[in-house]
Parts: sequence; C-alpha cells; structure tokens
Amino acid sequence: MKRARIVGTGSYVPQHILTNQELEKKVETSDEWIRTRTGIRERRIAAEGECTSDLAAQAARQALTMAGVSPEEIDLIVVGTITGDFPWPATACLVQEKIGAKRAFAYDLSAACSGFVFALDAAVKQIQCGAINKALVIGAEILSRIVDWEDRNTCVLFGDGAGAVVLSAEEGDHGVLSTHLHSDGSYWELLYQAGFGARHPANARGLDERVQFLKMQGNEVFKVAVRMLTEVAQEALAHNGMECQDIDLFIPHQANRRILEAVAKRLHLRDDQVYINVDYYGNTSGASIPIALDEVNRAGGIKPGDILMFDAFGGGFTWGAALVRW
Ligand code: ACO
Repeated sequence: MKRARIVGTGSYVPQHILTNQELEKKVETSDEWIRTRTGIRERRIAAEGECTSDLAAQAARQALTMAGVSPEEIDLIVVGTITGDFPWPATACLVQEKIGAKRAFAYDLSAACSGFVFALDAAVKQIQCGAINKALVIGAEILSRIVDWEDRNTCVLFGDGAGAVVLSAEEGDHGVLSTHLHSDGSYWELLYQAGFGARHPANARGLDERVQFLKMQGNEVFKVAVRMLTEVAQEALAHNGMECQDIDLFIPHQANRRILEAVAKRLHLRDDQVYINVDYYGNTSGASIPIALDEVNRAGGIKPGDILMFDAFGGGFTWGAALVRW
C-alpha cells in the first residue's frame, strides 16, 4: 500500500491585523481579559471582496510551488471549511478553477474546526486505496463574516486564513501513518450557526434573531474539547505503538492557549513539542493546523523522519487526530 506523504505546505492570511486594543473600542472587553483567557493578541481579517476561495487558492499555490507539483497533476482537492464562498457550489470547485487544476475532482467538507484533519483523512484514504496519486488538502475560513461583532463572548476569539498541503502517493515509511476521527451530534447546540440552511432559510427568518451568526457556549465547549483532544491523541499513539515522548511536533487546532496547555499537560508534552501560534491569528477553525504546519515548516522546524501529530476539535462536535512521519 502506498502512503500519502506531505510534499508541500502553504498558507495565506489576510493583510489586515485586528488587535485586542482595537476590539476594546468595539465591545466591552480588554486586552488583558482576552490575553489571559485565550492567549490571543491579534487576528487577521479578510478585506471586503476577499473570499474564502481567494485565501485557499493562495495557500494552495504556495504548497504546489514547494512540492514542485503542477496544478494539472492534482487529482483531488478537498477544502475543509464552514465559511465557503457560497452554500454551494463547493469552494473547492472555485479553487480548482482559480489554480487551473483541470483534472481534479473537488469538494468541500464540513467538520468545523476539525475540517482539515477530516479532509486529510478523506484524501489519504483515496491515495491508500490507489484511486489517486496527488491531492490538495486545504483548510480555509473567513470566520469574521459569521462572527457577531456585538457579542464579546465570541468576537474576540476568531480570525481568517487558509493553509494547504500537497499529498503524494509514495512507497516507503514516510507519510501519514494513521488518522482517527470521531463525532457526537448530541452536542451540536453548544457551537453552531443557525442560518441560513434548510432549518432557517434566509427568506423565512430575519436578521433580527441574528441567526446568521456563530453561537457558542464557551465554557461547555472548553471542557469537552480538552477531554476529546486528549483522548484522540492517545488513541493515535496507541494505534501506532508510540508514546507521547515519540512526538517531535504536536500541532493542535489553535482554539485557545488555555485549551492547548491543558491538553499538553494531560499528554505530558514538553513546551518544545507543542506548536502554538494562536496569539497572532486567533482561532481560524479548519485553517489553523495547516497554517501552523506551514509556518513551522518554512522556519525549518521539521526534519525528515520527525513524528508529527495533528489534533483537532470543533463544532458538531467533531474531533480527530493524524499521526505523520515527515
Ligand atoms: N471580555 C470581557 N469579558 C468577557 C468577554 C470578553 N471578551 N467574554 C466573556 N466575558 C465575561 C462573561 O460575560 C462572563 O461574565 P459574567 O461572569 O459577568 O457573566 C465572564 O467573562 C466569564 O465568562 P466565561 O464564559 O465563564 O469565561 P471563560 O473563562 O469560560 O472564558 C472562553 C471564555 C474564552 C470563551 C472560554 O470558555 C473558551 O475558550 N472556550 C472554548 C471555546 C472555543 O475555543 N471555541 C472555539 C471553537 S471550538 C474549538 O475551536 C475548540
């Protein structure tokens, strides 16, 4: 069986930086509250007219360049997103057109903050069964468009961005070793966007109810996130006969510094094993892991043979981990 190896990474974040100090002028909050509760200092916000497919295409081009793979070689594009350009067609199809990946089939995958890990799993399985040779897996979000800028409980947490990887079918020991996915729909009301799907279509329920905005019960999400992120990481390690100390780089979904520190503590990970950049981007949902991966990869922080773990949790609830030998 061929393995899916990550042969290129890319990322793109919008130019505009929104600091905590600027948020102090929009809602009743403080830089001190945001930093101590979340670790976030600033986040990127997409410009008017800038769409999720634009961010995704930029990240994809970078990943293709690093991989030395042309767009025409790509067989599959999967975009993990909950803020696509349209409800449909898929943002992945728009990315396909933008980058000229003429041969690829393309679709979006909705798993909220776990979107990248779920999309990675889908592409890896296509490679392992021999159906395809090369895939682009992208996490891309413009959460600023579904955030209620009058709700201090949520608006301080999120940001916009995109990250991408190119997967290639290769012989040998390097590549994605395993993926582990879970969902529990009984928690859906703790984190969701009510409008504008079939339950609350745009023409039936008005903006008064603010149904277009993301809603979250933060402290409930926090508790379940810590538990599930820990359990699925342990599951991935046990499956591969590894222990926490075997991980060279743990790249979790960048939800909140306190969540990540709690998970790292439960897994007995040292600070130097855990990559955290939530300070500068906030929670970019499905984009956070591939943005962090690209950042550390471009900084020369990953050596061939290193063991990486991606660990994600999000609305649904969904959660999942992937173990990778670089
Ligand atoms: N500024 C100032 N005060 C605030 C703010 C703010 N931005 N937001 C909330 N508060 C207030 C609340 O109103 C509340 O005040 P009250 O006691 O007078 O009612 C008080 O702070 C405490 O609120 P809590 O919600 O209990 O605060 P908590 O310590 O739980 O922190 C937070 C809130 C940061 C949202 C936390 O629960 C959290 O990080 N949860 C995880 C949620 C998350 O990361 N979701 C992302 C999506 S899922 C994922 O990616 C894992």
